[in-house]
Amino acid sequence: MVEINFQKQDQVGILTINRPKSLNALNKRTLNELLACLVQASNEKLRALILIGEGEKAFIAGADIKEMQQMGPLEMQEFCELGQNVTLALERAPFLTIAAINGYALGGGLEMALACDFIYANENAKMGLPEVTLGIIPGFGGTQRLLRAVGTRHAKELIMTGKMITAQRALEIGLVNKICKPETLLNDCLAIAQTVAKNSYLAVSQAKKAINNGVEMGLLEGLELEKNMCTLCFASPEREEKMKVFVNKNS
Ligand code: COA
Repeated sequence: MVEINFQKQDQVGILTINRPKSLNALNKRTLNELLACLVQASNEKLRALILIGEGEKAFIAGADIKEMQQMGPLEMQEFCELGQNVTLALERAPFLTIAAINGYALGGGLEMALACDFIYANENAKMGLPEVTLGIIPGFGGTQRLLRAVGTRHAKELIMTGKMITAQRALEIGLVNKICKPETLLNDCLAIAQTVAKNSYLAVSQAKKAINNGVEMGLLEGLELEKNMCTLCFASPEREEKMKVFVNKNS
C-alpha cells in the first residue's frame, strides 16, 4: 500500500491516509487501497478501526481535485461509485469505525467521516462540503448521510453554502461526538475503541447493524429486526459465558 498506512494495536487498527503534500486528498488509488484494507480488516475480525490523516493539517481535504479535473462524466460516475463503495464498506464493517478528524475534513473527507460510527475531532478541525463551489455536489454519500446525521436544515445550509464550520459548531449540530486536544485525539480514540473492543464481537456488530438498518425503517419493522438480532446474540456461547460470570460473581 502506497497511499495509506495500516497498523494494528491489539485488535484495533489505525488506518492513516498518507498523502500529506496534497492534504490527504483522495484519488482513485487511495480509494482502492482503502477498500482493500477494509475488506481485509473485516476478514481478520478486527474489533475497531480508527481513520486519521497524516500530518497536523488535514484529515482529508476532499477528493483529489487535480485528478478529478481530468475526468469525463462517465469516469466521474465510476469515481463516485468507488467513493460510495468505500463509505458503504465503512458503514457496513462489522466492527466499530472512528473518524479522528485531525484538521481539514472537506468534501470526500467529511463523507468518509460521516460513514464512520463515531466522529472525534480535534479543536482546530474544520469541516465542510464545499463541492458546490466547484460546480458539483457531494458524490460519496454526503447529501444522504449528512441529512441523516444533522437533519435537512443544517445539511442544506452546509451543502448549499459550501462553507466550512469549526469543531465547536460541528458539536453543536450533532455532527461530531467529541472535541479533543490535538495531542490527545488519537489516544482518546484508542481508549474508546478499547472499551468497545472488550464487549462481545457479535453483540457490537449486531447493535451497529440494528441502528444502521433501523434508520431506514418504520418503528414496527425496526423492533422486529431488533428482536431477531437480540435472539441471535442470545444463542451465542459468548453470551452464555458472560452471563454465567456475572451470576457467579453476584451470588
Ligand atoms: N485535491 C488536490 N489537491 C489538494 C486538495 C484537493 N482536494 N486540497 C489541497 N490540495 C493540495 C493543494 O493543491 C496544495 O498542493 P501544492 O502544494 O502542490 O500546490 C497542497 O494540497 C496544500 O494546499 P493549500 O491549498 O496550499 O493549503 P492552504 O492551507 O492554503 O488551504 C484548504 C487548505 C484545505 C483550505 C485548501 O487546500 C482547499 O480548499 N482545498 C480543497 C478543498 C475542497 O474543495 N475539497 C472538496 C473537493 S470535492
